[in-house]
Amino acid sequence: MNHLYLGDCLNVLRDNVKDESIDLIYIDPPFNSKRNYNVFFDDKEIQTQRVAFEDTWSLKNIGDSLLELHTVPNEKLYNLLRVYQEAAPHVFPYLVMMSLRILELHRVLKSTGSFYLHCDPTASHYLKTVLDLIFGVKNFRNEIIWHYSGWNAKLKSSFSSRHDIILFYTKQTKPNFNSFAIGWESEEEYIKLRRQKVRQDENGKKYVLSDAGGGKRVKRFLDEAMSYGKPVDDVWNLDKINNSSKEALGYPTQKPKSLLERVIQANSNEGDIILDAFCGCGTTVDAAESLKRQWIGIDISSIAINVIKHRLKDSYKKELTPFEIRGVPSDEASAIQLWEHNPFAFEDWWLTEFDVFATTFGKKGADKGIDGIGMYAIPKADDPIKAAFQVKGGKVQSKDIDALLGAMTKQKCELGVLLTRNTPTKPMLETVVQVGYFEIAGFTYPKLQMMTLAEFFKGKQLMLPKDNITFKRAKTLGKRTDQKGLF
Ligand SMILES: C[S@@+](CC[C@H](N)C(=O)[O-])C[C@H]1O[C@@H](n2cnc3c(N)ncnc32)[C@H](O)[C@@H]1O
Repeated sequence: MNHLYLGDCLNVLRDNVKDESIDLIYIDPPFNSKRNYNVFFDDKEIQTQRVAFEDTWSLKNIGDSLLELHTVPNEKLYNLLRVYQEAAPHVFPYLVMMSLRILELHRVLKSTGSFYLHCDPTASHYLKTVLDLIFGVKNFRNEIIWHYSGWNAKLKSSFSSRHDIILFYTKQTKPNFNSFAIGWESEEEYIKLRRQKVRQDENGKKYVLSDAGGGKRVKRFLDEAMSYGKPVDDVWNLDKINNSSKEALGYPTQKPKSLLERVIQANSNEGDIILDAFCGCGTTVDAAESLKRQWIGIDISSIAINVIKHRLKDSYKKELTPFEIRGVPSDEASAIQLWEHNPFAFEDWWLTEFDVFATTFGKKGADKGIDGIGMYAIPKADDPIKAAFQVKGGKVQSKDIDALLGAMTKQKCELGVLLTRNTPTKPMLETVVQVGYFEIAGFTYPKLQMMTLAEFFKGKQLMLPKDNITFKRAKTLGKRTDQKGLF
C-alpha cells in the first residue's frame, strides 16, 4: 500500500523501510540557504502565515552534529566530514544531517535502483563528494542542470541565477534506465540538429536517409523519423512554478510535476516503488500516482502531509489508489507525547486535523490569541466567514478565552474555537454559553466552542460550516523572509 509518513525521514526510514526495497528515490531537501518559507493566504485583511519549514541547518546545530557525526559508520565519509568541520564549518551541520539520511536511502535502494538529489549551487559541490563516497564514483550518472526561464535583472556583481542541480547516481553500473525523449519543436529543429538532407519522393512526401550501420543507408519518411522524439540530455529546460501556474498549491519550493514525471519515466516502470523522503507538497507522490507507480512520501511538517492529502484527493477523486498516513498522533497518549516533544508540531498537527493553517502574526511564538484561521463559504452569503483557532497544550484558564475573544474582534473572525489538552474550568464553560450564537444566511453556529484532546479522539465534532475553503485560498507562493544566505 502507498504510504505518507509524518516525521524525520531518518527515523521513518530506519523504522519502516526494508533493505533494498525501493526502485527509485528522489529527494529535494532543504538547501542550507537560510531561507524561511511561509505558506500563507491571499487575503486582504489577514496574512495567515507559518514557517512551513526552516532550512536553517546552521551553526546552532553544531553540538548535535558533532554527536551525530560519531554515528557515521563509513570511515572515509567520517574523515571527509571531519575535514569539512575544519574547512567549511558553515556547511558542516548540514552535511552531517544529509550524510546520515543518504546512508539510509542507499540502504533501502534496490541494486537496480536510481537516486536523485535535487539541490542548488550553494551546496551541490559538497554534496557530490558525500554521494561519491556513499554510492561510489563509478555509480555517478549525471549532474542534471534544471534551467528555468524568467526575467533576468541586471545585477551589480553577478549573473542572474537560473538553475538548480540534480545529482543522479545509481546503486550499481547496470540500473533500470529508459531513455527519455521529448517531441521535436519543428521540422526545422530536427533538420538543423540531425544535419540530414530532406528529399521528396514522387508523391511529394518528405524523407531522409538514415544510417543503418555497415555503410548502409535506409529511406525513412520525415514524420516517422521525427516520431521517435528527441532524447533529452542533462540540461532540462522546464518552467518553474509561479503564482499563476495552474499547478501552484501555495507550498513554497513546489517543483513542477513535469520534472518528476521525467525522472520517474526514465528510471522506473509501472508498479515500481518510488520514495521521496523530503516530499513537501507531494509533487513526486502525485507524479508517481499518475504514472501508476507505488509510492512512499515522508515529510517532517504536518502542513506538508495535509497539503498532499488534499492534493491527491482533489486530483484523483475516486480513481485514487488507497494510501495510509502514518506518524500522525492516533490517540491521546501519542498526541501528548508530541506536545511534550515539540509543542509547535503538536499545534500544527491539531490545527491541520481541522484543515486549518497555523498563523503567526509577526514573530513565531507571538500568537496573540490565535494559532490558526479557517475560512468557510456559506451558501447564499456574499463573503466567506472566518474561525479563529487557539490551541492550548498546557494549563487552560479564563484569560485564554478572553484573549481568543479579543483576537477574534481584532482579526474580524466570526467564530472562535479553543482546543485544549486539559479540561476547561467551569467559568470558561459558562463564558462559552454566554457568548451565544452567530447567524448568517439561515445558518446558526456557536460563536465560541471548546474541544479537549479526549473529546477529539472520541470523535466529537465542531459545529462549523461544511464548506471549508482554507486550502483553496492558500494561493501565494512562499516568500523569502531572509535573503541573507550563509555563503
Ligand atoms: C524543498 S522542500 C520539498 C519540496 C518538494 N519537492 C515539492 O515539490 O513540494 C523540502 C521539504 O523537506 C521537509 N523536511 C525538512 N527536514 C526533513 C526531515 N528531516 N525529514 C523529512 N522531511 C524534512 C520540509 O518540511 C519540506 O517540506
